[in-house]
Amino acid sequence: MISLGLFLFSIFLCQVATAGRTCPKPDVLPFATVVPLKTSYDPGEQIVYSCHAGYVSRGGMRRFTCPLTGLWPINTLRCTPRVCPFAGILENGAVRYTTFEYPNTISFACNTGFYLNGSSSARCTEEGKWNVDPPVCAPVTCPLPSIPKFATLSDYKPLAKNHSLYGNKAVFECLPHYAMFGNDTITCTAHGNWTTLPECREVKCPFPTRPDNGFVKYPAKQTLYYKDKAIYDCHDTFVLDGPQEVECSKFGNWSAQPSCKASCKLSVKKATVLYQGERVKLQEKFKDGMPHGEKVSFFCKNKEQKCSYTKDAQCIDGTIEIPKCFKEHSSLAFWKTDASDVKPC
Ligand SMILES: *[C@@H]1O[C@H](CO)[C@@H](O)[C@H](O)[C@H]1NC(C)=O
Ligand SMILES: *[C@@H]1O[C@H](CO)[C@@H](O)[C@H](O)[C@H]1NC(C)=O
Ligand SMILES: *[C@@H]1O[C@H](CO)[C@@H](O)[C@H](O)[C@H]1NC(C)=O
Ligand SMILES: *[C@@H]1O[C@H](CO)[C@@H](O)[C@H](O)[C@H]1NC(C)=O
Ligand SMILES: *[C@@H]1O[C@H](CO)[C@@H](O)[C@H](O)[C@H]1NC(C)=O
Repeated sequence: MISLGLFLFSIFLCQVATAGRTCPKPDVLPFATVVPLKTSYDPGEQIVYSCHAGYVSRGGMRRFTCPLTGLWPINTLRCTPRVCPFAGILENGAVRYTTFEYPNTISFACNTGFYLNGSSSARCTEEGKWNVDPPVCAPVTCPLPSIPKFATLSDYKPLAKNHSLYGNKAVFECLPHYAMFGNDTITCTAHGNWTTLPECREVKCPFPTRPDNGFVKYPAKQTLYYKDKAIYDCHDTFVLDGPQEVECSKFGNWSAQPSCKASCKLSVKKATVLYQGERVKLQEKFKDGMPHGEKVSFFCKNKEQKCSYTKDAQCIDGTIEIPKCFKEHSSLAFWKTDASDVKPC
């Protein structure tokens, strides 16, 4: 009897002691859910933590019972994201990523000259696998280049499979009589096409005209074409102004139009001048007249300072202007000093 009474009493005491000692709402764990989730639990009630899809539990218990003390035990459970296989390397390209964990997305890009065969991004799924196969960077190729009309390929090395790689070049030449407009070299671009093709156009030039006091020789043909040449020359005392050889240009005109220029007759009888840096006697140097284009320096006197300076004169198509300061002495005036013998100013 007594023992039954004691037993009931102790149950009563127990209930008194635990009255109000319920467990509170449990801690929230990142990426985890608690079942059942309530604001309070009676002692003996159980809760179970489970990680969200894509996360795995680590380092702790998942199941807890509300103790008589009303305090949940310390929870060391962690839910960590699943990690997808390493995908940080893409040959001939690059991968942009922060981590390979769920639910991150990584992206792919290829180096210039390569293109992405496959997805440009991949997502790490709940199962810890990539949602797509990793792509590859395949080399950009160009088809065989087309050849412009009236042109030939002068330099081109196709690959074995009838195509070219990014950066490969092909060089064209025009047929004779045809001139190239545009760049003779094309390049396989990163888009897999070639840069703009050049054009070859037939170019004719008119017959060159004979210069006054000279002549011109050119091929005895019905028509003169691009790159044909003509040779100019002048009669005896005349001098060619321009190149001796001219060429039919791609614009259908001649590279130059040389003309024949007259020599200069010298009105001065006796003068020492500077010619190409040397003192020469003018009349002796240019017995047959001074050719067009030649230049000499005459000596002049500065009377006040009793010194000499030089003044240039050039023969231009039969005319030379003798500097006004130059004074020619009569050969009888032997007592006068020539300006060329006076010390320079
Ligand atoms: C692209 O990749 C697929 C599969 O990875 C392959 O079958 C295909 O031949 C590739 N295409 C090119 C042009 O490389
Ligand atoms: C490559 O070129 C050769 C000859 O030019 C041709 O016979 C062959 O069919 C071409 N191959 C391909 C894949 O285009
Ligand atoms: C022709 O193209 C090549 C590359 O394709 C370039 O290096 C070169 O400068 C170009 N020449 C001219 C005259 O534009
Ligand atoms: C090559 O392709 C790119 C992109 O499709 C285009 O913008 C470009 O104009 C093309 N170049 C030529 C020379 O056709
Ligand atoms: C030939 O023609 C082109 C284009 O009209 C011009 O630019 C050039 O100056 C001409 N050349 C000569 C030597 O007249």
